[in-house]
Amino acid sequence: MKCHILTLFPDMVLEGLRTSILGRAEEKGVLSLHGVNIRDFAENKHNRVDDAPYGGGAGLVMQPGPVYGAWKSVAAGLEKQPRVVYLTPQGRVFNQKIAEEFAKEEELIFLCGHYEGIDERVLELIVTDYLSIGDYVLTGGELAAMVVIDSIARLIPGVLHNDASAEIETFSDNLLEYPQYTRPEEFMGQKVPEVLLSGHHGNVDKWRRKQSILRTARSRPDLLAKATLSEEEKELLKTLDFQGEI
Ligand code: ADE
Repeated sequence: MKCHILTLFPDMVLEGLRTSILGRAEEKGVLSLHGVNIRDFAENKHNRVDDAPYGGGAGLVMQPGPVYGAWKSVAAGLEKQPRVVYLTPQGRVFNQKIAEEFAKEEELIFLCGHYEGIDERVLELIVTDYLSIGDYVLTGGELAAMVVIDSIARLIPGVLHNDASAEIETFSDNLLEYPQYTRPEEFMGQKVPEVLLSGHHGNVDKWRRKQSILRTARSRPDLLAKATLSEEEKELLKTLDFQGEI
């Protein structure tokens, strides 16, 4: 997959994303990250890309021309126009399902705004998807783009060492992941649960599934309502009393 990131701070996005797993994915050739500096498309000699909002109000708005120029520099060379994702608190709230949908694309363009946002006219021209990473406001779209790209990229075959690990984990069936343990067997007086040392895979799977359900019931009952549970598991839930725990 190729991701183009239109931003005033390409170094921030590229350095962050290239650290660790996605950097190795790029070296392997399964992912390609391309930063485009919107300031390179400024239309004045001071390289300004923002101005005061018409109608008054605080802050500055990014001008449409440089954003359009940055997009055009990518889009002009392509036969098939990639989806253009604008990161904004006004967008659809991002989740694992949306990550899976985007992971199927061959090429994507991410647009990061700064200051008080971007002139609406250019958004209407080029943006296909508006995404938010949650109900809070960041100073710019860069961190949001990094979150979205990271979660999409790890779903691309070949990015993670073990493709199965992207599947059997938190959110795959609306359940949170079970607790994990590694050496040493005892840490500060706390032992690793006996069943994990037993070598009995059936019992390990059962224990993990139960832990996932208990965790989800405790901290994300909203998710649990969407999970597929067996009759036996539903019975187990009825016997639980989380009062005093939550
Ligand atoms: N830009 C500023 N805040 C944001 C958010 N919560 N999600 C996506 N983009 C943003």
